[in-house]
Order: sequence, then C-alpha cells, then structure tokens
Amino acid sequence: MGVYNLAVIKGDGIGPEIVGEALKVLDRIGNKFGHEFNCTEVLAGGCAIDSEGECLPEKTVEVCKKSDAVILGAVGGPKWDNLEGGKRPERALLGLREKLGLFANLRPAIIHNALSDASPIKKEIVGDSLDILIVRELTGGIYFGDRGYREGKYGVEAYDTEAYSEREIRRIAKTAFEAAMSRNKRLTSVDKANVLESSRFWRKIVIEVSKEYPEVELDHMYVDNAAMQLIRNPKHFDVIVTSNIFGDILSDEASQITGSIGMLPSASLGEGSFGMYEPIHGSAPDIAGKGTANPIATILSMAMMLRYSFKLNKEAEAIENAVAKALDSGSRTLDLAGDGSPYVSTEEMGRIIVENI
Ligand code: IPM
Ligand code: MG
Repeated sequence: MGVYNLAVIKGDGIGPEIVGEALKVLDRIGNKFGHEFNCTEVLAGGCAIDSEGECLPEKTVEVCKKSDAVILGAVGGPKWDNLEGGKRPERALLGLREKLGLFANLRPAIIHNALSDASPIKKEIVGDSLDILIVRELTGGIYFGDRGYREGKYGVEAYDTEAYSEREIRRIAKTAFEAAMSRNKRLTSVDKANVLESSRFWRKIVIEVSKEYPEVELDHMYVDNAAMQLIRNPKHFDVIVTSNIFGDILSDEASQITGSIGMLPSASLGEGSFGMYEPIHGSAPDIAGKGTANPIATILSMAMMLRYSFKLNKEAEAIENAVAKALDSGSRTLDLAGDGSPYVSTEEMGRIIVENI
C-alpha cells in the first residue's frame, strides 16, 4: 500500500491521448494492488506557450519538484516550429531535465516475441528477441554547452560546444555499470575518441570507473561504428553508455530495430528515486487526434516508473505482462499492423491492456 504524488504533463500532439491511456493503466494497478496515485496535471511545451506565454512555466517546475515522479507525453509541433531556439516547446524538455537534475536517461530497446517480424532487420541477425539498454547522459554535452554566433574565418558563424566534466562522466558511467551488473554484465561505451578531446576524457574516466566493476566486461566503440554494429550485429550489445547527443541518435536507431518507435519507454533519473517517465517518441502531430497513436511506449514508461522510482516490481511486471499478452493475442495499433491489416485504436489498445492486468 502506497500513496504516490505524480505530476502529469500531457503536452502536445498525441501526448494527451497516450497519457490518457497510461493513466487508465495506472488506475487499474492502483485498484488491484491497493496503491493511490494522486495526479496533478501541469502544462509544458506548445500548449503552455499558447496559454501561459512560455514553454516551461515556473509553476510546472514547482509541482514537478514536489512530486514523487513526473509523467510526460510529448511536446512540440509545427505550430511552434518558427519560434527562435530558446522559446521552442522542446526547450521545456531540456529545462525539466536540467532543473530536476535528471542526468541519466535509460532507454531500453526490446523486441517482443510477438513482434519479431516487425523488425526491418533479418531474422538471422535479430533472432526472436533483443534486449539492449541505452544509458544516455542527459544534462550535459552539446545540448547544454556554450552556444551562439561569432565572427569566424568566413564571416558570421553559429557554434555549439561539447564539454564533459569528470563528475558528469563518472556519475553516468556508474549508472551504466550498475545497470550492467543487474543484466548480462556487458557494457559498451560509445564515443568519438579518435577525433574529440571530450570523448578521450570520457573514455579515460569510464575506464577508471570500470575498476570498481571487475565483473563487467567493458568495450569501447566509436559512434559511427556503433551505428553500424547496431544494424549488423545488434546482439553484441547489452548496455550502451554514451553522451547526450550520441544517445539521442542511437536510441532512435535502436528503436527501429524493434519495429516501431511507438513501443519504447524511457526513464530519466537523478541521484535519488525521483524520475521523469516518457515515451522516446515525439508528439507525432501528423496523427494527433486521430486515435491511431500507439500508447504502449507511455504505458511501458509507467512500468519503469513503478520499478525505478517506487520499487514496485510486481506491479511493473503486471503492466509488462499485460502488454505482452495484448501483443500475443494479435492486437496491433496502426504503426504495428502491416499494410492494410486490421488495427485497434489508441483507446482500444489501452482498454485491452487494462483488461489484461
Ligand atoms: C529525445 C528528443 C529530444 C532530445 C528533443 C525533442 C529535444 O529527441 O528525447 O530524444 O533531443 O533529447
Ligand atoms: Mg531523440
């Protein structure tokens, strides 16, 4: 029995639809296992720009800080695409990550048995299942480095800076080694140490941290090679640890190996048990309001929240099993159904998963 206070940010595009289904799943978990989830809805992203004049109102940050965890749908859309960089809806995400101290982003890429045909990679390569965990650094690197315009060799130039401190590398490396210890004890650190100074430093610190984890088999890979190996030999990977920007790119790539970006959850964590949970996909404005979005990534993000923030493993498994059962029984949202095959709506998928709990 527990009481948990959640800040809920539905966001833009398909955000409200998918979060709506995730909250129904949470409600079912609460009823079945006797927990209370108190949700406070707050605004961030484009909808906050429209109603409050800024993408991340102070009140949103305050409510998030007071809560036990944050649930987020997705932010952004073409309506706000012409705003200048610092005012775009995406800035809300970066602001939340920074202000809430969420430096570690866990992005599991798992192929469900029932979906092994959905992977664009040949069966001989992926097999029946795949389970990779990407640990992405989330509050440093080029996303947060010095940027601007300056006079350069060929006139005005724009610049962004990649920088990593020992402290930042050490803490994300630790998170990744701990994750590897709870899995198959293999960790690949991805960098670009053949070119970038910040990557050479990254590699040096990761090697230092590895001394505390002698059981974990560590290897290093340049990011271009890692992008290739993810397609060529995805089974090489157990846990991947990498910088903010490389993690952004590789996690989208890994999602495609699993068949659909609509399936992948994520957890953004700091030092304590507090976390922010969201699908890795975006707001998909092209399909917003049509009832065709896949709510599974957001629903699986609830499972990650129960596991990582609240240590409710049984409850987390109940969600994961309910999702697997829905897929095993052949239920598919539009993104998962083959061309012309029948599919269920966002709401129907939510209902089927709730019924399976
Ligand atoms: C992600 C997204 C964000 C990122 C964007 C929307 C700012 O792509 O969470 O992967 O680049 O971190
Ligand atoms: Mg991304």
